[in-house]
Formats: sequence, C-alpha cells, structure tokens
Amino acid sequence: MDIKYNLKPASERRTEQFTPEGNVGFGKLRTDHMFLMDYRDGQWCDPRIVPYGPFEMAPGAMSLHYGQSIFEGAKAFMHDDGEIYTFRLNKNAERMNNSANIVCIPNIDEAMQLKAINALIDVERLWFPMQEGACLYIRPFIFATEDRLSVSPSQQYTFCVMLSPSGAYYAAGVNDGIRLLITTKFHRAVSGGTGASKAAGNYAASLRAGKAAAEYGAAQVLYLDATNQQIEEVGAMNHFHILKDGTVIIPKFTDTILKSITSQSIMDMSEMLGCQVRQETVMLDKFIADIESGEIIEAGGFGTAAVVSPVTSYIFEDNRILTVGDGKVGKHIKKIYQVFTDMQKGKIAGPDGWVK
Ligand code: COI
Repeated sequence: MDIKYNLKPASERRTEQFTPEGNVGFGKLRTDHMFLMDYRDGQWCDPRIVPYGPFEMAPGAMSLHYGQSIFEGAKAFMHDDGEIYTFRLNKNAERMNNSANIVCIPNIDEAMQLKAINALIDVERLWFPMQEGACLYIRPFIFATEDRLSVSPSQQYTFCVMLSPSGAYYAAGVNDGIRLLITTKFHRAVSGGTGASKAAGNYAASLRAGKAAAEYGAAQVLYLDATNQQIEEVGAMNHFHILKDGTVIIPKFTDTILKSITSQSIMDMSEMLGCQVRQETVMLDKFIADIESGEIIEAGGFGTAAVVSPVTSYIFEDNRILTVGDGKVGKHIKKIYQVFTDMQKGKIAGPDGWVK
C-alpha cells in the first residue's frame, strides 16, 4: 500500500536540525507529523502522513469504554554518518501483532508497520535532538474507533505512529539505583489474562501500585505472581538479577510477563556481553535468601525507555529493607548499559540486522 503525504507547508516545518538546550526529557516533545491508517470493512486502508494533531473520534468509540487499545515503544538513533537507524523494529512489529491477538485487534502486516515508521522518520529527520544519549522515541499504537456500546471486538480501528524527540532517560547514565516495593497486594497479571501484551489497560492498572510504591519512598513495585511466590516484573519493565559469577537471570517469559525486546536482546547478545544469560522461574524466597547471602550481587529492570534500570534496594510492606550487594550500581549493569547503548548508537557493531 502506498502512503499518501499531506504535510504541513514547508514554511511551517523545521528547516534545521533540532539542537535543544538541556536534556529534553522522555516523551514530552512531539514532531510535526504522524502516520495514520484505518481499519474498516475488514481491512487496513488509507495509510497517510498528516500534521500531528487531535483525533476526531465519536464519544462512543469502543477504545474509550472497553480499552481496546495497544501500543509499542521503540527508539531510533542518529549515528556518526548523520543517518537515523532504528533498533530491532521488526521485533516491535511482531509484538504489536501478539498484543493485537490478545485483545482481538486485527493484525497489521509487519512490513507495513516498518514502512509506516520509516516513512515518518524520514519526514521528521530534522527533529532528531542533537544531544548526548538522545533518540527519536517511536510510539505506534492501535485503538478501537467504532461507535458502539455492546461488548465485542470493534469493527473499526486506527493505527497511529507518533514520534517523540527524547533525551537520555537517565541523564547521568546508570549511576543511581532505585528502590522497589515488594508488594503482595497488587498484581499485574494472571495466567490467561493480558499480561503478555502491551494493552493500554495494563498500564492504567499499574498506576495504583505505582502510587503505593511512592508512599514507601520506592520508585516502583516489584510484581509477584498472583500467589505471591514468584518474581514477575518491575513496574513497566522486565526484572533481572545478576549472580556473583556474573550470570544474568531473567524470569521465564510466560503469559503473565511482557516479552521485553531489551531482555531478549540481552539474551541474544550474551556472547558479546561476555556473560551467561538465562531464564528461569524466580522464587521470591530464594531471591531474598540469595541477596542476603551475597549470591545475588546486582538487580534491575530491562525495558526500551530506560534500557537498564538498576535496583539497589527493595522495601517490604512492613518497611524492612533489603539492600542488593553494597547498595551501589554494580559493574555488570554498567557494562550491559554501555555495550547496549553503544550498539544502538552505532559506536560498536551489534548482531547482523539489529540496527538499520
Ligand atoms: C518500556 O520501557 O519498554 C516501556 O514500555 C516504557 C513505556 C511504558 C514508557
């Protein structure tokens, strides 16, 4: 399908590369245009790039009532050759369709998703923010637009891609660790639910847990499974921990855990990182005992936005504190962050086809 272009007049578009002062932050800014495509009469149609702006949508649009809405998050980086490169975008397209299957949204051909994103980046290249650690954050999303109040899959949808010129998530790199609340009161997912998808409602449901974490002075919660025995995720990221021999452990991807592309990449590039990476069921009791004995020396979260978020302590609901290692960000996490971000920025070569 050919993309139609209805761009802003040239006089209203950027004429020079964006050179912001100070860290532009994550997800705050927008570019001039967005990509749109609609689903009606049983097919995706009318792919177009138009000025960024509000949607016209019926108050009865089903996404507003029943939450039939999913999203993805990816990043593009400018390399020293001045070109903009995306990172494993095919994995986002694949995961978008997986999320779509979970909440009964029609799939979009992966090649079409990639074409849409690359076309939009091409139009918006002058919006790439020229500052250390910056990226164009890519936010593709699909939402139900049919004006109907009975509960069944919508017959109409919109697929949108917007871009956000973003600075480094952690302006100072990964020098500071966060604290997590180990909660037995809030759960993110149950088997047979939507936990393995990037359904918008999963994130709405996480807000209350995030508020509870803040009351304990923690940045986020550590989610356990519904029986409070296994470690699942951390806030909106995958959890991981590192043993004293340097082995990275990531909880097994089940239908209650979102398959993080960062986690998958860490596994796929373990040789390049010079460490073992494996997935296993992580039992909370053993995790605590292994931190106390010094068998576990580092921990954190993997996700697209922050890449690696080091966790240096946990707090229990009775206010006990569990410190990881010496309470400082460890050398393995620093190395993973450095290698991963250098690869995304084209400073070092990654596996074939990841950066393009
Ligand atoms: C990620 O880091 O992978 C995310 O999905 C973060 C986003 C919800 C802001």
